[in-house]
Amino acid sequence: MNYIYLDNASTSYPKAPTVGPAMEKFINTSSININRGSYAPAYDVEEIVFSTRQTLCKMMNGYDEQYVTFTQNVTMSLNMALQGLLKAGDHVLISGMEHNAVLRPLTYLTGKGISYDIIPCTSNGSIQIDSITEPIKPSTAAIIINHASNVCGTVQDISTIGSICKNHDLLFIVDSAQTAGILPIDIKASYIDALCFTGHKGLMGPQGIGGIILSPTAATSIEPLIYGGTGSYSDVLTMPLIFPDRLEPGTLNLPGIIGLHESLRYIQDVGIDAIHQKELDLTQQFLQGIKNIPTLRIVGKEDLDNRVAVVSVTCEEKDNAHIAYQLESEYNILTRVGLHCAPLAHQTLGTYPTGTIRFSFGYRNTINDIDTAIMALHQLIK
Ligand SMILES: Cc1ncc(COP(=O)(O)O)c(C=O)c1O
Repeated sequence: MNYIYLDNASTSYPKAPTVGPAMEKFINTSSININRGSYAPAYDVEEIVFSTRQTLCKMMNGYDEQYVTFTQNVTMSLNMALQGLLKAGDHVLISGMEHNAVLRPLTYLTGKGISYDIIPCTSNGSIQIDSITEPIKPSTAAIIINHASNVCGTVQDISTIGSICKNHDLLFIVDSAQTAGILPIDIKASYIDALCFTGHKGLMGPQGIGGIILSPTAATSIEPLIYGGTGSYSDVLTMPLIFPDRLEPGTLNLPGIIGLHESLRYIQDVGIDAIHQKELDLTQQFLQGIKNIPTLRIVGKEDLDNRVAVVSVTCEEKDNAHIAYQLESEYNILTRVGLHCAPLAHQTLGTYPTGTIRFSFGYRNTINDIDTAIMALHQLIK
């Protein structure tokens, strides 16, 4: 790519180095399906799928690899969690920083008798922890939280929120779109019942693969979102009770899982802490370099505490979309402009409806990329 890619919150690029070759090899040399034919090559592929579940379970400290189920992306995982765990009459709490991947299914569910309240956040996007318990009612069934904001990078304290859920007997559903592969996540210590993840962002895998990791409690009560063949219990016309089959009807995205298997290996080799540190170093460099541009406002936190490498800015005197266009056309820098599918977060941050220009850095960006972006902003916004 002849661009400086600063849109890693949308999808990471480049992917982990062996993702592409492994997927290509699978497609070109075997492409065997699993859970159907009982021949040796199918078991070889099944082993990779199992090992990918095991790695994810271990990485996120889940309860058991059987509760790691694959989906297309975090949006599908959140739909599975919300539509499969909630029932008419339930009330839930969400934060003021949620993505439409939570808000749209919830809006649909309000038509099915489910209601929700919004836990307020500060103007930098942090959940006000003391405001969580007040709106809890007898009908409250769950709290759904975006671990880190895709607009301004603010990270929420999921271990404290998880403890509140545990104390109030609430399910805890976490959208880890911006943190899986970047920040340590501990399902057991944070009392998470449904960790929803996507494979193509911080996990550095391909698009089209994601998943959900359930607690045993959530696994007992979740209803499938999609029904169909699993290659198991074929004489029974209801979905199997065993996991992961219960939530995985139809042929899995095997090339996607194989790509994810490779990217997880890469992340383990590099180390999540090293990835996060490098991304924070890039963020620090960027924040430092742009803070003196008079008409450019950094939206959300201006420090490195509890954040990921997503930085939003808005220009008071020029049109954000025009600046993003100039970044691309004059400097080959790719960013994202607008509401980033998170209008509620922009309301919280005071940038609705204009939105922001978002710069999001990945492990494979360089200091040079950041310096070029800083220089471009200084030249474009004088
Ligand atoms: C916080 C958050 N949730 C959900 C999503 C949706 O991710 P996906 O498109 O992989 O389902 C995104 C990414 O755009 C996100 O940043």
